[in-house]
Amino acid sequence: MTTEVNTAQVRSAVPPAVASGVNSSTRSNGAPLMISSVDGAYVTDSDGKRYLDYHAAFGAILLGHKAPQVDRAVIDAIHNEPDLTGWGTSRLETQLAESLVAALPSVEQVTTVTTGSEAVAYALRIARASTDRRLIIKIQGGFHGWSDSVARNVISAPDRVYQMDPLSAGILPEALEATLVAEWNDIESMRELFVRHPEQIAAVIVEPIPHNVGALLPEPGYLEQLRKLTLEHGTMLILDEVITGFRHALGGYQELSGVAADLTTFGKSLGNGYAVAGVGGSAAVMSAVDPAAGGKVAIMGTFNGNPVACAAGIATIDYLRSHPEFYTRTHALGSRARTGLQGVFDDAGVAASVQGFGGTFTTYFLPARATGYRDLLANDAAASRAFHRGMVERGFLMLPIPMKRMHISGAFTEADIDATVEAAADVVSQLVAQGQLPLR
Ligand SMILES: Cc1ncc(COP(=O)(O)O)c(C=O)c1O
Repeated sequence: MTTEVNTAQVRSAVPPAVASGVNSSTRSNGAPLMISSVDGAYVTDSDGKRYLDYHAAFGAILLGHKAPQVDRAVIDAIHNEPDLTGWGTSRLETQLAESLVAALPSVEQVTTVTTGSEAVAYALRIARASTDRRLIIKIQGGFHGWSDSVARNVISAPDRVYQMDPLSAGILPEALEATLVAEWNDIESMRELFVRHPEQIAAVIVEPIPHNVGALLPEPGYLEQLRKLTLEHGTMLILDEVITGFRHALGGYQELSGVAADLTTFGKSLGNGYAVAGVGGSAAVMSAVDPAAGGKVAIMGTFNGNPVACAAGIATIDYLRSHPEFYTRTHALGSRARTGLQGVFDDAGVAASVQGFGGTFTTYFLPARATGYRDLLANDAAASRAFHRGMVERGFLMLPIPMKRMHISGAFTEADIDATVEAAADVVSQLVAQGQLPLR
């Protein structure tokens, strides 16, 4: 089995006019994969090979590819709504805002943008403007898009954890330094930063489940402690629900945990593949963007509230609201996958922990359950890559990046999950024979 990348072959398959070959850095994974068609739970590459799609466009696909309800709404908007006017507001923008407010428990007003990164950048601006403070806290392992303030310390190597670890060159150090880094599920590490920087922390931003390093579930009481700590210090709590929102529950993870945010960011699956995102909060918090209420935060974007994006968002929410069984189904499929895969690893004596929530799962090559980033330092990255590459070769699209989460869309079936577990057993037995997986 080939697990190593043939660099020359990959380079030759790269479209020469696309700088670096891909339009988003993490889309390049050593495989010259170009998807030419999609259908429900499946994608087909340009060689005609079909894959069960666990990648789901980094989680933007929730209902399945080309969900008919979303496609119909988009086509209807193209035919029957104004395209883009850049003047005032529109019927679909208003309707999307009302749907979001009805869905998200702590949200009374929203502003919609195009990407999750923009939503986060605006949330940080609102928090800084409203508190008149400079500093932000994120956690080691949290990812909140590409904007300068948060582009640090995601999958950090052991010698860079909690140190300055930028995601990119070209960012002003001042922007990065105004963001501090704490450990997930460790309230003391957060408290310490508040003690060191009294009355300077504008916001704490966390994914309610840090899915960008897999699935580190919040320990019981952790989110509540975070809420209490931020309230005590007059700091805004930003729940970045760009992945968890709509995927785990219509009202995001905040609906399930009961922990309310000051600001919520959302995106990805809201449009089921169409570009729509946003930020919301109470009317008082969101007044920061309303000049009539004295707000001084500017929100700008030529394509904000475009009809295609709004139609896709409205249709996705409508579908989820009218099909509550979507969640019971995807959560049950997720549980079936986690149990099945853990069984495969256990039977083979592999040191692996399959973790996840709802319709998501991640395999860590670790001897025990991970609760924080510190645990992830021991994850066997080479084993992760080898396992995912083996699955890709067998027709299961799993991004060969360590700690990547898998997404189960509404188009998956029990048979898809069972086929995954069966293929995993084959991959695992081969990799064990080759000594590529850590044993217990
Ligand atoms: C939690 C989270 N926030 C924000 C973003 C940025 O969203 P976008 O890629 O739409 O800019 C991402 C993207 O992966 C994300 O996972």
